[in-house]
Amino acid sequence: MTTSTRSQTRRGTADIELETRIDALLAALTVEEKVGQLHLAFDLDPEDHREEIAAGLVGAGIYSHGANDVRETPPAPLAGTIAACQRIAREESRLGIPLLFGSDVVHGMRTTLPIPLGLAATWDTELVREAAARAAAEASAEGLHLTFAPMVDISAEHRWGRIGETLGGEPQLTSRMGAALVHGFQSDGRFGATAKHFVGYGLVDADRDQQTLSIGPNALHNVHLRPFRAAVEAGCRAIMVGLHDVDAIPMHAHRRLIRDLLKREWGFTGVVTSDWDGIGQLVDQGIAEDLRDAARQAMLAGVDLDMVSGAYRDHLPELVAAGDVELWMLDDAVRRVLRLKFRAGLFDAGADPAGAPAPLPVRRDTMLARRAAAASMVLLKNADILPLHSNLGVIHLCGPFVEDAGGLLGSWVYEHGEDTVTPADALAAQLDPDELIISDGRFADLAVRHADAADVTVALVGEHPSRSGEDRCLPTAELPVGQLELLRELASLGKPLVVVVAAARPLELRPVLQLADAVLLIWHPGAEAGPTLADVLLGHAAPTGRLPMSLPQTNRTPALGTIERTIGRRLGRSRDTSFGRYLNSLVNPELTLGFGLTYTSFAYSDLELSRAHLPMRAGVVRASVEVVNTGFRPGREVVQLYLRDLVADIVRPQLELADWRAIELDPGRSTRVTFKITPDLFAYTDRELRRRIDPGAVDVIIGPNAALGSSARLLLG
Ligand code: NOJ
Repeated sequence: MTTSTRSQTRRGTADIELETRIDALLAALTVEEKVGQLHLAFDLDPEDHREEIAAGLVGAGIYSHGANDVRETPPAPLAGTIAACQRIAREESRLGIPLLFGSDVVHGMRTTLPIPLGLAATWDTELVREAAARAAAEASAEGLHLTFAPMVDISAEHRWGRIGETLGGEPQLTSRMGAALVHGFQSDGRFGATAKHFVGYGLVDADRDQQTLSIGPNALHNVHLRPFRAAVEAGCRAIMVGLHDVDAIPMHAHRRLIRDLLKREWGFTGVVTSDWDGIGQLVDQGIAEDLRDAARQAMLAGVDLDMVSGAYRDHLPELVAAGDVELWMLDDAVRRVLRLKFRAGLFDAGADPAGAPAPLPVRRDTMLARRAAAASMVLLKNADILPLHSNLGVIHLCGPFVEDAGGLLGSWVYEHGEDTVTPADALAAQLDPDELIISDGRFADLAVRHADAADVTVALVGEHPSRSGEDRCLPTAELPVGQLELLRELASLGKPLVVVVAAARPLELRPVLQLADAVLLIWHPGAEAGPTLADVLLGHAAPTGRLPMSLPQTNRTPALGTIERTIGRRLGRSRDTSFGRYLNSLVNPELTLGFGLTYTSFAYSDLELSRAHLPMRAGVVRASVEVVNTGFRPGREVVQLYLRDLVADIVRPQLELADWRAIELDPGRSTRVTFKITPDLFAYTDRELRRRIDPGAVDVIIGPNAALGSSARLLLG
């Protein structure tokens, strides 16, 4: 027996043992207790909910503070409350089944890391995995077992408030980053991740939250389902369904997508959880008569866990008794929840009777937070001004964030910036007092006077986290009111101007790029925003992020993404002179997916294919390119591989990201970067909903971003 067969057999035996233990529990549970396992209650408290927990009427708990809670007090440490609830479940309920606890640990818990869009901008799966592993360790120390992350909805829509929670606008990037987050969150083998919001939520009509959406089979299978498939393949423990409807069928009642596709076709064995009150909302959406009917429809569709609506708890027993829900469906849902609890280690021998580890004094992982923040920052323009030279003279730092401790943390945070060093303090710590002037952002006129007295101004502008997140959509997405006027005034002084933009969406930055000598997009970088920014401005760290979606030219229309399909009628070479334009507005991206400068430069040459023919059966072609560091500092470059299928069964994207490699090169050094091209990279779902690879010509493009690259033709067949 080989080692891998032996370990497969061991895993197989462990799985059988686990299912046998679940069988035994299922046989012992009453219908009411089974239903209790499917009820996820919010803010469980050992005093208020003692009776429910002891009666086995609740199986899980969520502590949610919302994406944008700006309450005075941060969410209290959870460990004590969780341990007390757990003790009741274990010691006072009939079968002693422990509770499962989840929360939205999205970008760190005690170490606030960059928002997901920033993490995606790192294009660094290893770093992202490490970030998620840290977040999971911090969450576990609080007694939590599950996070409601990663969000793998695909959107390039700057108006949608939740775009900052996504991993960008491209299926391959989202799939790889999403899988890296799943691996990271689940790296201790116990803590679980939840991929959300199944499926297509990033396409909501008019970019307003929780709306309806129209989606055809191509967008569904070739774009939006892909990252969920990747998450399932990465072993993700749970999937959350979205609060939207897909072509008039609310996701919480979408049997074809949940029970048939996700569970049966894909073989997903984890838990499908509802979103907040998603089952209850079936009544408001007008497809269920009442909560009883909503519970029936959601159960039939395959939703296992009812987040807070109470519809299952109050109506499932009677639905089962009446034969409106078959017992096997209830048992299957309970089995999934119990499986998650077993995998979380809740039944392990020797587990703390309270079920929660003693709360650790978890300190922030400062180094990780700084590395992640610098890696997420995207340098959009640099007319030889950054990093700021030591002999530049007096630096003036201004803007609303410079003395604000919480504004750069992002949404879904567990702190309010108490131990956070502000950008002003961080820069002051590295400069002599006479080298720095700070304007705190209150008076624009004072900032202009200070700028006049300084040699260079760094303006830190952008959106506060409260402008992003759930139900924070905008009809147009420009800088917040007044900021562009300030930048215009500053630029009119004729002195060097560096603009640092904090944002949770791809804002319209065209006017800023025109006014400034350098533009750095930092998203919301997290707890170490200030010190990291100071390091980056002064050149002690380099910004190495790349855009995870295109930036729009105007705030009225999103930028066309790379996954945009080819259109039939073209008049000119540029997309702005072809059909599909607006008469008075631009549609081309200002900067495309993958764009990002750093403190050195790179040149590409000599694209080579190992052969011009790629056999359909197990063929491999190596595509390679020479990359040289042409600047004066060591640097990191993200070499990107894009593909174009020239003739297919359906209209294919103009360009699809297939792969990327990050390299580090010293000045003057070069290296050859090679990608393996296999036929499966060209697979897609065709008009008959079959997986398919077409023989024929394809283009292979390698470059530093989606707009720039050399291309070579390959024959598949
Ligand atoms: C609603 C949001 O849509 C979802 O993303 C989140 O996980 C839940 N609320 C729980 O807080």
